[in-house]
Parts: sequence; C-alpha cells; structure tokens
Amino acid sequence: MLATRPEKQNRVRQICKEHNAKPSALIEILHQVQDETGFLPKDALVDIADALNISRADIYGVVTFYHDFRQAPLAGIDLKICRAEACQAVGSQNLAEHAKANNHPFTDAYCLGNCALGPAVMIDKKLYGRVDADRLDQLLKQKGE
Ligand code: FES
Repeated sequence: MLATRPEKQNRVRQICKEHNAKPSALIEILHQVQDETGFLPKDALVDIADALNISRADIYGVVTFYHDFRQAPLAGIDLKICRAEACQAVGSQNLAEHAKANNHPFTDAYCLGNCALGPAVMIDKKLYGRVDADRLDQLLKQKGE
C-alpha cells in the first residue's frame, strides 16, 4: 500500500497514463484506482481530473452515479448480492431480505457472471454460487462478520 501523498499521486498519474489519459477510459481508471486503494479518495479524484483534463464535477458525477464506486473505505466485508433476472428466478430476493433482516450490509449487483449457479453473491471479490440464507450466514461467519 502506498503511504505518502506524492506516491499515491504518482500511482494515479501512472494509471491514467496507462490508459493514455483518455477521458473515455474514466470508468476503467476509477475501477483500477479503487481496486488498489479500496476506495476513491478525494485527492485521487482531483488527480484523475487533472490527468484527464476534465472537470471535477464530471468525475463526481460518474462516481456518484455508479453504486460500485466508494468514496470512503468499506467497513467490514464487501458483500454483493446478484439481483439480475437469473438469480431473481432462483431466490436472490429472499437472500437479500435475509441479509437485510440480519443487518448484513450489501450492495446489489446486476449479474456477476455466474447465472447458471444462482443465487450468486460476491464476498470480498470472491464469487459464490447457489447461495441460500444458511450458506450466506456460513460464508459471512467464516469471513469474521
Ligand atoms: S443473473 Fe446473477 S450472476 Fe448472472
């Protein structure tokens, strides 16, 4: 993990350079920065805006529009529950209701690419299939929640 502001700034600039500083690559750049830092710090958004020569308002617009982007570190486990059609057809609604009822914070995902094995969830970037309420509880318990 990068410690100092100049190191972080250099890494963000490097990521932008890898994408030829194209504004059309903004979403990929934001994902890469978030993957490396865990969230999108305000300083990084300013650095990206400068590197791509776009306004800060444009960046904030994208970051706030897509629920996958985080402007603060995640507290605890990153749980995503697929709410797309194939998973809905095999019980992801019940799974989401179970998660809510048990105070498991989660975000909705719209297809995790595991449609044949729904309901699908992703926990800290690891994909799981055929997850029912009991299995979700087990997986979260293993992760320490
Ligand atoms: S619909 Fe859930 S993984 Fe594709």
